[in-house]
Amino acid sequence: MSNEFQPLQGMNDLSGTEVLRWQALETIAHKQLAFFGFTELRTPILERSEVFLRSLGDATDVVQKEMYAFEDRGGRAISLRPEGTAGVVRHVASLGEEGLQSKFYYMGPMFRCERPQAGRKRQFHQIGVEAFGEPNPLADAECIALQVHLLEAWGLEGVSIRINTRGAKDEHEHVSEGLRSALEPHKNKLCEDCQRRMNENVLRVIDCKNERCKTVSQSIPAMLDFLSETSQAYLKDVLEALRQLGVNAEYDATLVRGLDYYEHTVWELTHSALGAQNALAGGGRYAVQMGKKTINGVGFAVGVERVLATLEASNKGFSDEMEHQRYWLVSLGEDALKANMVLAMQLRKKGLRCGLELNVKSMKAQMRKAARFGAAYALIRGDNELKAGQIIVKNLKESLQEECDLQSWLRTHEGEE
Ligand code: HAM
Repeated sequence: MSNEFQPLQGMNDLSGTEVLRWQALETIAHKQLAFFGFTELRTPILERSEVFLRSLGDATDVVQKEMYAFEDRGGRAISLRPEGTAGVVRHVASLGEEGLQSKFYYMGPMFRCERPQAGRKRQFHQIGVEAFGEPNPLADAECIALQVHLLEAWGLEGVSIRINTRGAKDEHEHVSEGLRSALEPHKNKLCEDCQRRMNENVLRVIDCKNERCKTVSQSIPAMLDFLSETSQAYLKDVLEALRQLGVNAEYDATLVRGLDYYEHTVWELTHSALGAQNALAGGGRYAVQMGKKTINGVGFAVGVERVLATLEASNKGFSDEMEHQRYWLVSLGEDALKANMVLAMQLRKKGLRCGLELNVKSMKAQMRKAARFGAAYALIRGDNELKAGQIIVKNLKESLQEECDLQSWLRTHEGEE
């Protein structure tokens, strides 16, 4: 097919039953996140580039290589958001003191100009939360538990949680220096990227996936060894709180996460069904300087496409709960079509979801539309059924059908929502 009508590379149109799965996932998220006291925040998709440079860090891959950054007509440097945290933090900085205790969640598209591949898009979607307040291991543990809870509410089991600490912000320089001198004697064994990263962003050497770099990283002291007792105790407290909450998390000395705003706890959730791009979600505690304010928070973001792909790979979905409320009216002949149009309005007013073809079409063509609509049942009427006040109800999944009296069927199908 011609590219003329395709979206840009790494971006997708969403339609049909796929959209229904997205809506179901979002509905569950709205409900569950409200249970935990989060309220929704919708920030703009475009921000001043500054907002991202200042929070994510200008030496990160996301900022250096992946942001859609450009000048607007007024010559201002602006960017499409590559993630959600920075915009939420900017918003919190605009609030008074009480903003520093707020709890927000968000959902929507993010943009990273990465090389598209399975599981990696240029426009992808995140559902994330940010809870603001001074560093507190209990808040970090609750945030991780919420993330696991959310995934379970979506029907996802078998996720692995890896957790590490980056230590307090004021120890970062010391940790980087320690790692640099430990790596120095092995510099020649590192990949080219890591030799460069040693000066710019030495933490990225630790999580490099290259086998040679991995061997070197495993031979030097862990990040944790360069941290103060206070920072080490912080991680212990998070792990202890997680244990009490019944959440299994595995300490991983090589987990650093690719964004500079983090301090203390960082974590990532993976699932074996996902293959190479197996990070379902990631999060951590952070401190971002916004003007004179330091904004402290903890949060995570889940990749929606990856959650849906995992559900699909595990043969799970939301389709059942949604489909049982969807009807497609099939009209055999012009009179039936007119009568069905009236019936459709009646059903919608009762709170039932239904659709119908407004042109006279073959049964086969109407059934194809029913499938596209995601209907669970077809309600079929022709001249005979019209005259007899009957309707044929066909269960599309099980291919079973029965003829019913229309009025009694209507009485037993009051709003099902
Ligand atoms: P992140 O790890 O960069 O963290 O992204 C979170 C999740 O978004 C990933 O685990 C993945 O599921 C999904 N994701 C990222 N890039 C892509 C892509 N190109 N295609 C498809 N899915 C993708 C953050 O963005 C942080 N803001 C999370 C956070 C919130 N930390 C604290 N608060």
